Amino acid sequence: MRPSGDESARARETATAPVTSEEDALRAKVLDSFKVVCICNKIKKGTILKAIAGGAKNLGDVKRATRAGTGACGTQRGGVTRCTAAIREMLEEAKRARDLDTPEADQ
Ligand code: FES
Repeated sequence: MRPSGDESARARETATAPVTSEEDALRAKVLDSFKVVCICNKIKKGTILKAIAGGAKNLGDVKRATRAGTGACGTQRGGVTRCTAAIREMLEEAKRARDLDTPEADQ
């Protein structure tokens, strides 16, 4: 069945609508978690965030938990892989979020 003109227009409107509601924000967050951060090993952002939430505190912990950052791209770049900066940024962001959650931060 073909969509009516109204349905079609609504679908176009929804596809281009800015993120406004909580549901849309959650949807954007889920889609973001499927982004591939480590191209060499095809490791998604969600996998890395899960490792960080599970206790990974530094780059080495993330590498051991996910294999992100252990690919061949580092051999031509002095051991610094393409995804290292993104992983470090996620670790820093998680650290900042943890610091904000501590009771001392409220004082
Ligand atoms: S992109 Fe992650 S190891 Fe190459």
